Amino acid sequence: MSLIEEIQKRKTFAVIAHPDSGKTTLTEKLLLFGGAIQTAGAVKSNKIKKATTSDFMEIEKQRGISVATSVMAFEYRDTLINILDTPGHKDFAEDTYRTLTAVDSVILVIDCVKGVEEQTERLMEVCRMRKTPVIVFINKLDRDGRDPYDLLDELENKLEIKVRPLTWPIGMGKTFKGVYNLAQDELNLFSAGQKQDDILQFKDLDTPDLDEKIGGEYANTLREDVELIQGVYEDFDAAPYLSGEIAPVFFGSAVNNFGVKEMLDTFIEFAPNPKKRETQAREVEPTEKKFTGFVFKIHANLDPNHRDRIAFLRICSGKFERNTFYYHSRLDKKVRFNNPTSFMAQKKNIIEEAYPGDVVGLYDSGTFKIGDTLTEGEKLFYKGIPSFSPELFREVINKDPMKSKQLEKGVNQLSDEGVAQLFKHKLGNRKIIGTVGQLQFEVIQYRLKHEYGATADFKPLNYFKACWILSENEEKLKEFMRRKHANIVNDKDGNLVFLADSPWILKVAKDDFPEIKFYTTSDFKVDALSHDYQV
Ligand code: G4P
Repeated sequence: MSLIEEIQKRKTFAVIAHPDSGKTTLTEKLLLFGGAIQTAGAVKSNKIKKATTSDFMEIEKQRGISVATSVMAFEYRDTLINILDTPGHKDFAEDTYRTLTAVDSVILVIDCVKGVEEQTERLMEVCRMRKTPVIVFINKLDRDGRDPYDLLDELENKLEIKVRPLTWPIGMGKTFKGVYNLAQDELNLFSAGQKQDDILQFKDLDTPDLDEKIGGEYANTLREDVELIQGVYEDFDAAPYLSGEIAPVFFGSAVNNFGVKEMLDTFIEFAPNPKKRETQAREVEPTEKKFTGFVFKIHANLDPNHRDRIAFLRICSGKFERNTFYYHSRLDKKVRFNNPTSFMAQKKNIIEEAYPGDVVGLYDSGTFKIGDTLTEGEKLFYKGIPSFSPELFREVINKDPMKSKQLEKGVNQLSDEGVAQLFKHKLGNRKIIGTVGQLQFEVIQYRLKHEYGATADFKPLNYFKACWILSENEEKLKEFMRRKHANIVNDKDGNLVFLADSPWILKVAKDDFPEIKFYTTSDFKVDALSHDYQV
């Protein structure tokens, strides 16, 4: 197959959701459609259950298992689909944000009982920023949930994206009768646990057959709903979906494998193939002959018997081949991989070659940082792999002065891996670690001890946000830094960061220094991307 054919065959996406909405269940059903797994339950091990902070090792064990299913590939209707798994646990949200930089589209799962939840909003912010095409699956229609119109309104208001329902539910909970496919004029009748979809064509909804099938009352409601939807919404058009402006919406029940096929078929038809991507120097088309790719995630195994690190590389252009020397742009050196792995639903296989849209796992002994770019010789750096402002801040306190070098090395390496963000204060070389969750501090403490022999404690700091700051006005920037010197730090790449104590203090700082821009993502140099992220 030619490179273009390989690219046109591929679609790479992530399923994102607030925990417990049904992400794992839906992923499993998608894999069943593709024949990648044979039995339900196969993906369950992938899931990090709600855990208390004290059992992070248990979580890590599960994460270890989940590496195998970090990327699940399957074929459906001649399309090769790569699903990138995202950790559900909110303390690992940063992992999810980074994974979103490696996909071309997402499927967002919403629980119809709960509606749009907190984590969904944050995940969607990242999608909006990147203009990622989104398909919404409203799940658990077999339970008594919220009114579908309310849910659509909430999606539009809270997620700031226009929606376009492509299926419509009939009843809900105990009275759930099925979904009507608005594009195909088909009725899919629901019966719990059904193996095969029971699909009926209804070109004309006025037919008495409909009343017979679902009862007069439901038939009338459906007729009214369909008329209303067709009046309110414009016909579905792929262009605004592809530019991230409109999200098609499907209703169903993942656990019953109901309404999933309608979504998958639409996904196959409209979801984007690997697209061109921006580097700091230029745009790279996937069809370029020369291979390029970037590392978006690094997974370190905490099990002392298997202390390997796997760097996840997203292929962006050309063909990646095993045992070939590639150019590591940041280190300015050639590197070669003997055992690149693919992740085909729980089995790790050594791969010989990979194409744009694919993700390969590279065994790594510390060569990689998040965001590193590999090429065939050109010095490129892919854009848009930002750090987001952490939520929790702690100062690292060295408890063993004899091991300060080990501590320094450990803290630096862990921040390269993306376990947490590291900020340095010039005064006294203070190190401040920022995370999105408490669990990460425990992971860091454990790893510093077991991998680097360093003992660290953490002193809580009450910062509200880390804001990357930038100004064309040198004088004003200097003045700001003088005034706020206790709160000015450098991130790991040397960028200036203001640690704001509270929303109020941030507001005052912005009012007093209109010449300075404050960003809550480190990707501020990419204007198009960071636009929404100015605070
Ligand atoms: P997550 O990955 O988003 O965290 O969610 P997951 O798929 O694990 O689903 C969370 C719970 O919701 C599971 O129940 C799952 O069975 C249930 N669920 C998923 N889809 C549907 C649906 O369409 N209808 C209903 N009623 N429930 C659904 P659990 O009790 O936590 O786990 P399990 O014991 O059932 O596996």
